Amino acid sequence: MKFFVDTADTAEIASLAATGLLDGVTTNPSLIAKSGRKFLEVIAEIAGLTDGPVSAEVVATTTDAMLREADVLRKIGDNICIKLPLTMDGLTACKKLSDDGVMVNVTLCFSANQALLAAKAGASFISPFVGRLDDIGFDGMTLIEDIKMIYDNYAFDTEILVASVRHPIHVLQAAKLGADVATMPAAVIRALAHHPLTDKGLAMFMADWAKTGQSIL
Ligand code: G3P
Repeated sequence: MKFFVDTADTAEIASLAATGLLDGVTTNPSLIAKSGRKFLEVIAEIAGLTDGPVSAEVVATTTDAMLREADVLRKIGDNICIKLPLTMDGLTACKKLSDDGVMVNVTLCFSANQALLAAKAGASFISPFVGRLDDIGFDGMTLIEDIKMIYDNYAFDTEILVASVRHPIHVLQAAKLGADVATMPAAVIRALAHHPLTDKGLAMFMADWAKTGQSIL
C-alpha cells in the first residue's frame, strides 16, 4: 500500500520523505490557501522533494480551461499528476489527458458510479473522500469496498487512492480492503507508528540497559 501525504507544507513533506516511507503527495486548493504560498512555486518545490506522483489540482470548471491549466502544471515536472474534479467536464479532460499519457487523479468522488466513470475515462487514480462521507453519516469505507469490487470485476488499472483520511483506523480499514494508496495528513502517518506499549517497553529496556553499565559503540 502506498502512502501519500495530503499537504502543501514543504517542510513536513521533506521530513517525511527523509523516512523513505513516502510514496507521493496530494494537494488541493484549500491546502494551497492554507500554505499562504504561490501555487506554482509550491508545486515545483514539492515535485523536487519526492519522486512519487504530486497531485496538482486545476481550478477551471470547463474541459478546455482545465486542459489549458493542465498544460501549465504538467510542465513543472515529470511526476506531476493532474487532479481533476469528478464532473462531466473533468471526466472529458481526464480521457483526453490519459490518452496523451498524462497521470490524472480524479477527485471529489463520493459514489461507486462516479469511480466507474473515472476508470472508464482512464484515470490513474480515483480519490474517494471517506472522511467527508463519514461526517454526514455515510460509511466511507463501504464506498472503498464497492469501488474495489467493481475495479476488480473489470480489471481496471485505476488505483484507489483513499482520501479525506482522518485517523489510523481509516488507514487500517483501507489496507484490509486492498486499497492501493491512502493520502493523509502528516500527523496520521506519524500516528501509525505510535503505540503506548512500544513507548513503555522501550523505556523499560533503556532503564535495564543503563543498569548494565555497557555501551555498544
Ligand atoms: O485532498 C483531498 C482530501 O484528502 C481532503 O480531505 O480532510 O479536507 O476532507 P479533508
